[in-house]
Amino acid sequence: MNYKQLVEKAYEAMEFAYTPYSNFNVGAALLTKSGKVYTGCNVEFASLGATNCAERTAIFKAVSEGEKEYAAIAVVSSSKDFTYPCGICRQVIVEFGKDIDIIVAKDYDYEVYKIDDLLPHSFTGIDIK
Ligand code: THU
Repeated sequence: MNYKQLVEKAYEAMEFAYTPYSNFNVGAALLTKSGKVYTGCNVEFASLGATNCAERTAIFKAVSEGEKEYAAIAVVSSSKDFTYPCGICRQVIVEFGKDIDIIVAKDYDYEVYKIDDLLPHSFTGIDIK
């Protein structure tokens, strides 16, 4: 699975976005170090704070199936611009390590970041002693 294929998986997942309130659709595809892919979309609720982002949907699916080691996550949206993971998703990503590649894509164009680029000086489990 190369990054272009992972981006395609994220676009496929975006088709399932449930966004009656924002109409802003997001898709994510999470590649585990073992080579599996977990996808996610954003899911919104009338109580807007209950909304779950696409990235977290994918990560929660993976964790709930015992997969906690990730190689990369691709993020796409219905916007004409790149969509970067929100702050909550950045915090969830860093929970599982700092080596994951974060692929922010728009059509066939993509950028690759590390979590230290997007969430510098992060607060993680090692800070809780
Ligand atoms: N959203 C995501 O799914 N991921 C992000 O990283 C940014 C925001 C969703 C949440 C909400 O359903 C919609 O985009 C607008 O905020």
